[in-house]
Formats: sequence, C-alpha cells, structure tokens
Amino acid sequence: MHRLLARQIKRHLGDPAELPAALATFIAAVDDAYDNADADRLLIERSLDLMSKELTEANDGLRKELAEHRRIEQVLQKKQEEQHILIRKLEDVHSQLLQSEKMASIGQLAAGVAHEINNPIGYVYSNLGTLEKYVQDTFGMLELYEQAEGALTDPAVLARLQTAKHKLDLAFLKTDLRALMDESKDGITRVKNIVQNLKDFSHADSADEWRYADLHRGLDSTLSIVNNEIKYKAEVVKQYGELPQVECLASQLNQVFMNLLVNAAHAIEEHGTITLRTGREGDEVWVEIADTGHGIAPEHLQKIFDPFFTTKPVGKGTGLGLSLSYGIVQEHHGRIEVQSEASKGTAFRVWLPIVQPPATNGQVP
Ligand SMILES: Nc1ncnc2c1ncn2[C@@H]1O[C@H](COP(=O)(O)OP(=O)(O)OP(=O)(O)O)[C@@H](O)[C@H]1O
Ligand SMILES: [Mg+2]
Repeated sequence: MHRLLARQIKRHLGDPAELPAALATFIAAVDDAYDNADADRLLIERSLDLMSKELTEANDGLRKELAEHRRIEQVLQKKQEEQHILIRKLEDVHSQLLQSEKMASIGQLAAGVAHEINNPIGYVYSNLGTLEKYVQDTFGMLELYEQAEGALTDPAVLARLQTAKHKLDLAFLKTDLRALMDESKDGITRVKNIVQNLKDFSHADSADEWRYADLHRGLDSTLSIVNNEIKYKAEVVKQYGELPQVECLASQLNQVFMNLLVNAAHAIEEHGTITLRTGREGDEVWVEIADTGHGIAPEHLQKIFDPFFTTKPVGKGTGLGLSLSYGIVQEHHGRIEVQSEASKGTAFRVWLPIVQPPATNGQVP
C-alpha cells in the first residue's frame, strides 16, 4: 500500500488490518489513485527537469552569442579607432607635405633670385675694384698737375684753375670719393654675402642629397635669412663649439634651424637674447637654440610637436613648424630635446648622428 495512504488510514481509521472488508476495494482504488498521482508527478518533474535543462542550455547559447557580439563590436570599434588614427596620420602627412612643398618652393625661389643676382653683382664687384684703381691713378695724375701749378706763368690760366678747384672743392672730393668707394665696396660685399647665404640656404648648388656639411655654415646662412624677423627682437649670441662635418640633408636641416629661430624670436615679447650653441658628444653633435622668451606652459609641452598645435593667433602660426622639424630630425636619426621655464625662456636642442646608420647611408629618402 502507498505509504502516505497507510499513514492516513492509521491516523484516521485505526489499524488497516482491522478495517471492514467492504472498504478493501475502496482502499485499493484510492491506493491506485495515489500510485498514479505519484507516477504523474514523477513524469511532470522529469519533464520540468528536461525543460529547465533545455532552457539553461539555450540561455548559455544566448550568453555566448552575446559575448561574441560584444567581442565583434569591440573589434569593430578598435578597427574604427585605428581607421580614425590612420586618417589623422594621412592628414598630418598631407599637411606636412604641403608645408615642405611650400618650403621647397621658397628655397627654389631663393635659389632663382640668388642665381639671377649673382652675375650682375659679380661684375659690379669686379668693376668697383677696377674703378678704385682708376680713381687712384687719376688722383695721382691730379697731384702731379697740382705740383706743376707753380710752373704756370699765365695768370689768366692760373686764375681759371684756382676758380675751378674752388668750385669743385677738390680736397673734399678726394676724401669723399674714397669714402664712397669704400661704402660701395662694403655694400656690394654684403649683397654678395646675402646671395651666397641664399644659395647656401637653398643648397642651390646641390640636389637634396645626403652629404657631409658644415652645420655652422648652415646656421649662419639661415640666420641671415631670418635676420629681419629677429634683429629688432633679440641680440643673437653665438657660442659655437668644435663640430665635424655632419652627414645630412643640409637644406632640410636649415629649415629646422629656421623654424627654431623664428619660434625663438616670436617667444620674445619686448627684447631678449637668442643664444646659438653647438657641441659634440661622442658620435653625435648638437645644436641648441635658446631664447629668453615667455617659455612654454607645462600643459603644452606634450603637444608642441603635434601638427597644427599653435598658441599663436589665427593667421600668425600654422602650428606646423615643429612637427615638420621633428620629422626632418627623425629622418636624420636624431632627436629634439626641449627645456622650458615659464617667463625665463626655452631651449631646443637638436641631436644628430655625425654619420648616418648604414641603412640610409647615401640614400635620398
Ligand atoms: N621657443 C619657444 N618659446 C615658447 N613657445 C614655443 C617656442 N617654440 C614653440 N613654441 C610653442 O609651440 C607651438 C608650436 O610651434 P610650431 O613652430 O610648431 O608652430 P607655430 O610657430 O605656432 O606656427 P608655424 O611655425 O607653423 O608658423 C607654438 O605655437 C608655441 O606655443
Ligand atoms: Mg613655428
């Protein structure tokens, strides 16, 4: 008999063995019903179990799918970020190219002008030399005539001579002519130097190729190019050390020097000093351009080499100077160091290897 039925009969009706026989069929039927209910419950429990297992599996599947979705989404997001970075890099490269094209065309223009001026300056310079000699000869001759004056007997001729001499102010003319010649020679020499500097700056005489160059010469020619921008702002002090010739793309390094010099001048508000220092340490050389300007704010220090980062007013700076310089120095396997203190000044130090590593040696990138 079903245990539950047996317990209930015992509790409510007493010992089952003592029950009237008439109840036996009834009790057997109830017993069957109890057994059937048990079987049904078991069945339901089992199917519930089964369903729960299926649901758990389905749930697991969904969870896995969700995780996969999330993973794919993250991968896509990363790809998108990479694309954004790539696009930004492309934009940077594009603008750097534009800037260096601009610089190259300035260089070409400078080279063209220098070339055109070179010839006339050449003959004016040489003619001035000849002219000076002729003037000296003429003065010598005049002196001889003056000495011969005493031998003149005709008073009318003598009087005419005295009047002409007085009118001409021959004594003044003699000294002034010499001064004029000296000034003209000085002027022409300066023009010649400017032309030479323009040629050096643009390296008009050589293609843009890796070769050994004198960095002091590059610095000096660049300085004379930007002198207009600097001379009212700062006194330039040169503290050059001993430098060997350095393997480089000289005209590109001149662009770096130019950017640093102009930045230094811009940083000086009233009047200050720009100091150019150079030196050598082992296999490297360094060129430092230091100013007594307003300095760089610490929060800007990380950004100054970013393309388009500028603190200058719209139209004054493009923010490309330093990023371009950074690229050029990297191409030379060098580095740029910055030290800046607010309202004290800034020093940019360009480090360059004296000899390029073998991979780029002698190659135009
Ligand atoms: N010597 C310096 N002193 C103080 N700040 C400087 C100096 N050099 C650079 N900076 C800061 O770095 C910024 C970026 O310089 P960068 O040469 O790249 O661009 P720019 O001078 O602003 O513009 P561009 O050179 O294109 O005309 C400047 O705007 C300035 O804030
Ligand atoms: Mg600049």
